[in-house]
Amino acid sequence: MSRNALDPVTFVVVGASGDLARKKLLPALFALYSQGFLPRDFRVFGFARTPFGDAEFRARVAENLTCRYVPGEACADRIREFLERCHYTAGQYDSADAFLNLYQAMREKEGRQERNRVFYLSIPPQVFLGVAHAIGGAGLVQCGNRRVWSRAVLEKPFGRDRASSDRLTAEMARVFEERETYRIDHYLGKEVIQNLMVLRFANLVFEPIWNRAHVRRVTIEWKEDIGVEGRGGYFDAYGIIRDVIQNHLLQILALTAMERPASVTAGHVGDEKVKVLRAVPPLTPDDVALGQYTAGTRRGLPHPGYTDDPTVPRDSRTPTFAAAALRVDNERWRGVPFVIMAGKGLDGGGTTVTIHFRDVAGNVFCDRPLCLPANRLSIRIQPDEAIMLHVVNKQPGLQVALVESDLNLRYRAAFDALIPDAYECLLLDVLEGDKSLFIRCDELEAAWDIFTPLLHAIEARGIAPEPYAFGSAGPAGMRRVLSRA
Ligand SMILES: NC(=O)c1ccc[n+]([C@@H]2O[C@H](COP(=O)([O-])OP(=O)(O)OC[C@H]3O[C@@H](n4cnc5c(N)ncnc54)[C@H](OP(=O)(O)O)[C@@H]3O)[C@@H](O)[C@H]2O)c1
Repeated sequence: MSRNALDPVTFVVVGASGDLARKKLLPALFALYSQGFLPRDFRVFGFARTPFGDAEFRARVAENLTCRYVPGEACADRIREFLERCHYTAGQYDSADAFLNLYQAMREKEGRQERNRVFYLSIPPQVFLGVAHAIGGAGLVQCGNRRVWSRAVLEKPFGRDRASSDRLTAEMARVFEERETYRIDHYLGKEVIQNLMVLRFANLVFEPIWNRAHVRRVTIEWKEDIGVEGRGGYFDAYGIIRDVIQNHLLQILALTAMERPASVTAGHVGDEKVKVLRAVPPLTPDDVALGQYTAGTRRGLPHPGYTDDPTVPRDSRTPTFAAAALRVDNERWRGVPFVIMAGKGLDGGGTTVTIHFRDVAGNVFCDRPLCLPANRLSIRIQPDEAIMLHVVNKQPGLQVALVESDLNLRYRAAFDALIPDAYECLLLDVLEGDKSLFIRCDELEAAWDIFTPLLHAIEARGIAPEPYAFGSAGPAGMRRVLSRA
């Protein structure tokens, strides 16, 4: 069925003046629109405090729209049509009256037909609840009406620890039903992350060796070769564990370690993710290495340290690096460390999962233990998506000499297709009501249970992160974590 035949939808972006809305959400909606994935009757309403008129808002939206799905002259027409569907209302976030104004503006454009609604809360966490209550207070949420739905999309952070996350969940549930609440982790929309389940469960070769008998260690690395670069306000309040590890990297761990779900529906996948997260014991400060970058160099040029950034307090103890070896205490994984590492200001950038397999027992090609590298499967999530299996191979020639070689699946070379942005995929799922790539509340609870004791202990003891130079491999404490793994 053509999506143009789907029911009318109004997509409200709260915080529409912000970076995420401008650079990701509206371009993703345009990408869906230009490929015919949105209903014919589709409108966007931006809402924020900054006073724009429709024309100014549209001009800002237009700056980031690209023609990658509709090259050629047709693109200008698609852009014009899309922008005609974009409107803007200014108002205060905690004011029901402001949302009544929004409602009024919506009704003027929408006509009398009942419509489905998405409320995307693209705003800082401190205004989340005020906005949700104001939306509810203005009567914009259509509860109990089975003909149309009202969905909320929330951006992380979902609280600071288990208790604050539970409070947020409970308060949000007073306005939006849990089944209509979409907690977004944009990593789950990335192409290679979505492929993790396919790789594991649609191929015969991996699943039989995906366990403690054959895997020695799993590493999940997230590296940035930039710092906070003047956007330290949000980051300093949260730090690398809350910003990256507790959500993105833990989700990757769950998809890598979970059992085969009964089906790929949201319910079954969520059940398996929760089960595996509940098998991970909570971390303590002894399990982790924390670091904070100091002045160093980037591509040969001096780069200031974290606390030199004008948006960061001079005495900040916020970690910009953390590494930990997590355990998954179940039959499949007992004894296999999952080393998770995330850092800013490092010697390279990218996100990779690596499965390190065990050595070949009784290897006939060498008489010393560990004389050959063990197999590794590297799954590069970004940049330059790729899956590489590192194997031992005979070097061509008359002698028997062995080398490590790569079986290399580089997406850009292998597939003649555009790789969609994560937000394109996730926004389409919101519109289609598919929650399999969103975080359920019990998943969120299990994730916070792993990190809350550690975060509280770090804060209570005032544990200082170890300094490491910008552009280096990270703090020396990383070696301690690896040596235990
Ligand atoms: N950018 C990303 O890639 C990214 C990634 C993950 C998560 N997030 C989350 O997504 C949300 C939006 O991200 P963003 O980068 O667009 O954020 P942002 O630009 O800092 O904020 C979005 C809008 O919220 C309003 N705002 C900012 N600070 C505020 C404050 N202290 N009190 C009330 N309103 C304030 C501003 O609009 P007005 O002043 O016009 O009202 C701003 O345009 C945030 O919750 C962030 O944590 C963003």
